[in-house]
Amino acid sequence: MPKIGLFYGSKRGDTADAAEKIKKSFDSIEKDLVTVFNIKKVEVTKLEEYDKLILGSSTWEEGDLQLHWKRAFPQMDSLDLNGKQVAVFGLGNQSEFSTTFQTAIGTLARKARERGAALVGLWPAEDYDFLESPAVEGDHFLGLALDNTNQYELTEDRIDIWVQQIAREFGIIEEVEAAAS
Ligand SMILES: Cc1cc2nc3c(=O)[nH]c(=O)nc-3n(C[C@H](O)[C@H](O)[C@H](O)COP(=O)(O)O)c2cc1C
Repeated sequence: MPKIGLFYGSKRGDTADAAEKIKKSFDSIEKDLVTVFNIKKVEVTKLEEYDKLILGSSTWEEGDLQLHWKRAFPQMDSLDLNGKQVAVFGLGNQSEFSTTFQTAIGTLARKARERGAALVGLWPAEDYDFLESPAVEGDHFLGLALDNTNQYELTEDRIDIWVQQIAREFGIIEEVEAAAS
């Protein structure tokens, strides 16, 4: 079964909470697939140890990555992510930051793609109310967009649905079903 590395950056704990919920949701499919790392505490090169990656950041300062991701970000230019699959999630506030909503998702996703990774976990941009977002291509965010300020009641269900989606895209559901038969 492939192991998944989840790397997050969080200022007030919202992204950290979402990271734990994502891990818990994966646990309901197969125990201990996901190892969670705070990007504040590890080197970016650690990403290369995983073929399946989940990257999470809140957006700050009207379009920036969360501080610890911001510090780590330049080192991503030395990563080789060829052959790896990357899913991205973000925390943001659609009403107060209606033109920079979830910028961090776009920043991390495009960098992962530039370094050779295949993106999974694209998420429909409907059911949100914002003017524009650099994280949207076509009618999808480049990852799961969570907004605990305006849509907290949707966060848990969104995570569960997204985890099912990326578990399928990572090939994990298939492996679990094959192991059970
Ligand atoms: C000063 C400030 C700037 C922010 N800028 C943005 C932004 O540009 N885009 C956005 O979507 N959210 C923005 N937010 C909302 C945060 O991303 C949101 O509160 C998030 O849940 C924080 O997650 P964290 O605790 O994991 O860092 C901002 C919040 C503050 C207080």
